Amino acid sequence: MASHEFRTDRVEVAFTVNGKPVGLAVDPRATLLDTLRDELGLTGTKKGCDHGQCGACTVHVNGRRVNSCLSFAATHEGAAIDTIEGLGTPDNLHPMQRAFVELDGYQCGYCTPGQIMSAVALLAEPCGESDAEVAECMSGNVCRCGAYQNIVAAIQSVRKENAT
Ligand code: FES
Ligand code: FES
Repeated sequence: MASHEFRTDRVEVAFTVNGKPVGLAVDPRATLLDTLRDELGLTGTKKGCDHGQCGACTVHVNGRRVNSCLSFAATHEGAAIDTIEGLGTPDNLHPMQRAFVELDGYQCGYCTPGQIMSAVALLAEPCGESDAEVAECMSGNVCRCGAYQNIVAAIQSVRKENAT
């Protein structure tokens, strides 16, 4: 093969997505974001910038939040990947989803899956408890609608709920 040609051989990868085992042959250049959306039909995870700058694509990998647009699917052999689809259902919302609804933590909703995945992970991180510290810990998740104040309020309400 000439050095300027790209190899496109697919590679096998196996991980779980929302608790279900998945085995795929992926293009080694495929991002986790595109794999979730295009190969697995999990379109709840959104593509905003595709450059690690907006957080719309946030998912959990082994419980930690990750920008899935910056991560190659093939590197996640054996990982536990969780997306917004695995968090709750319309009839049985996760507490963070319920808080976003009750406290108007969104407007157009495009950034919301990423905000919620980030917010859930944040509560397990050493993030300070003040509104300003929570806002700082959420600074990787951009909201073009400017729902920031209500997003922080939603996170704080779940934090308080968890503490009681
Ligand atoms: S789409 Fe991944 S950070 Fe913007
Ligand atoms: S709710 Fe519209 S971008 Fe955040």
